[in-house]
Formats: sequence, C-alpha cells, structure tokens
Amino acid sequence: MKIGLLGFGVVGRGVYDITANMDDIQVAKVVCLEDVTLPDAEVTKDFQSVLNDTTIDTVVEAMGGLHPAYEFVRAAIEAGKNIVTSNKALVCTFYDELLPLAEKMGVQFRCTAAVGGGIGWLSELERSRRIQPIEQVGGIMNGTCNYILDSMTRLGLGYEEALKQAQSLGYAEAKPATDVEGIDTWHKVILSSNIAFGVSLDSATVPVTGISKITAADVAAFTAHGYTCKLISTGKCEDGKYSAYVQPTLVPAGQPEAAVPSNYNLISLVGKYSGRMSFFGQGAGRYPTAYNVVQDCADLLSGKGFYCAYGEKVAAVNDDELIFYVRGNKDAWLEENVSEYWGEAVVTKPVSVSAMHGWLKNNPDAFIAAIARNSL
Ligand code: HSE
Repeated sequence: MKIGLLGFGVVGRGVYDITANMDDIQVAKVVCLEDVTLPDAEVTKDFQSVLNDTTIDTVVEAMGGLHPAYEFVRAAIEAGKNIVTSNKALVCTFYDELLPLAEKMGVQFRCTAAVGGGIGWLSELERSRRIQPIEQVGGIMNGTCNYILDSMTRLGLGYEEALKQAQSLGYAEAKPATDVEGIDTWHKVILSSNIAFGVSLDSATVPVTGISKITAADVAAFTAHGYTCKLISTGKCEDGKYSAYVQPTLVPAGQPEAAVPSNYNLISLVGKYSGRMSFFGQGAGRYPTAYNVVQDCADLLSGKGFYCAYGEKVAAVNDDELIFYVRGNKDAWLEENVSEYWGEAVVTKPVSVSAMHGWLKNNPDAFIAAIARNSL
C-alpha cells in the first residue's frame, strides 16, 4: 500500500513513525504546509500531486477540520483512492455525501480512530453488528472533558486550570469549545449510532450540552451525594425508534464510568446476545490515534471497507424520562418539575430529555446533568 498522507501534525507524524519500518504499508508522499524533510517520503504542499500519482492507492487524511479536508477527501474518492481518516467532524458532517460516493466509486473508507482514538471501538462494533442487533452505544468519548472532570473531582483543580493542562498535553481540539461544549462527543455518538444501527441519524435531532458551565461548587455537591460527573453520550434503537443525546451525567460511585481517569474513554455497546461490552483506552494523543489509523490501513489491505452499508436517514426521538440536576434560572417550568433542592440547585422529577434540552435552549447559562440512578 502506498499512502498519500495529508497533514503532518499530531496524528500525521504518528502515522509516519509507525509505518516507517513496515514493508507492506508505506507513506510515499506527505502533503503539509510546514517545511519538513523526511528520509523516506516526498514532502509537498501540492495536493494535486497526490491525486495525479497513480502509484498512491490510499489517502490518509490527518489534517483535521472540515476545509480543505472535505474537498481533498472528496477529490481523492473521485480519483478512485481509498480513504482512511481520524476526522470525526468530517465523517459526521459529510456522511450523506462521502459514504454513498465511496460506495459508488467502489473505494474503501475507514475511520476507526475517529471515535475512541486508540480503542478498537468501531472495528469491534463492525464485528458485533454482523451477528446481533445493537440496542445501545455510548459512554465517555472525549478525553479532554474526562481529563477536566477527573482533575476537578480527584485533584480539586479549577475548570480553567484543568482545561489548560488538557491543551498542553495535546488532547484538546484546536478550538477547545469543540470538546467542552460536547460537539466532539456529538460527532462521535452520531457516527457510532450510524454504524451500530445502519442508518444516517439526522444530527439536528440529537441534542448536546457540554461541561463549560460546571463549577467547583457543582463538583463538591456531586461528591457529597456519592456521584461523579462525566460527559456521557447515548445512542439507542428500541423497536425501530431511535434516540441519541450528549449531556453531563452523574454516575454513582461503583459504576465503571465513575472510575475512568485522565484522558481515557470508556465506550460501550449493548447487543441482543452479548449484553453490555465495554472498551477502555486512550481516546486521544499521537500514537494511540495513529495506531488505529495504521490498523485501518492494514484492514484495507485485507479487503475491509466501511463498517456497514449506508443506511436511511432517521430522526432521533428523545422521550426518555430522566432526573436532572439543574443550576440555573428557576422559572415556572423548572419550579413545576422540582423534586428536591441541592443547595441552590434543583433535582427534577423525571422529565423527557427533549423537554430538558428545550428548556436549556432558553436558559443557556444554566448547567444541567442527568442523574443516572441505575446502570448506564
Ligand atoms: N479532542 C479529542 C478528545 C481528541 O479530547 O477526545 C480525540 O478525538
């Protein structure tokens, strides 16, 4: 396999290093804007030279961001080249274009590192869905948020200090709002749900809220009540009805999610026969992520394409009734739904996820967290 590698940042450099001594997978050209010299690969600023190089059969996209990654990947598919990417924003945003196009062009497309970094999550989901209906996917999918919440809970760090550390360790996206507002997790759960259920979820029907409004006082209240706050994603398919959402969630001590440290992810599926299976590992960072990019290249060599056939467009209907911790404006709706008070904050009666997120849209400064009384 001869690779045209797009981008030479955190992930691209890792892919180059891991493949440096491999015989069957070689990086032939690197497209990047920096002036680097590499012993075994040509470095160019010109993407066209990858497109026109007929010896390059696979494009590995490690640029991140939507543009020009989208234009380059699209052009590479149209030129008949296989694609491997770790770019969840790209795959999720252009799912309805890129996947049908890859099917039409007969090229292979894999993106295992897009969810869970170094964890073989999507590749195991692919195996799992072959022989059983998948009922649920989700869990902790963002290393930056987990690092921040873990540092605030265990070490008593402030939010800003913990975020700075996550950035300096290379976990955070270029725009950290993508992590802390839950967008990165949102992309990952939509992509995981698409593969698990063989559909294309309408992202506009998947509500998301992140951790940027959490305070040290919230964390202290959670600890006092025996809970740990985690950013949790949920994707479900029950009797042909889909639901999907991303929100901070209070996990009881003793649940596996509560113990997940640092930048680690814990992603689970519930299958008809297997029951719950969980996957734990480093969800971010150079070599864990590059590891799965190179695994995808090896999978392409053995003839594997995308994880499922492109499926029909479906909407999420989020009528699950959950209990929420809410710190914010106590308007009539919230007062009507109070079950108890934790200091200034409110714990609600069971309310639907869609009603809670609808309220949050009108109260954007509030912080909410679902309270998981039982197993996730
Ligand atoms: N910013 C992401 C995270 C990187 O923190 O998990 C991996 O997708």
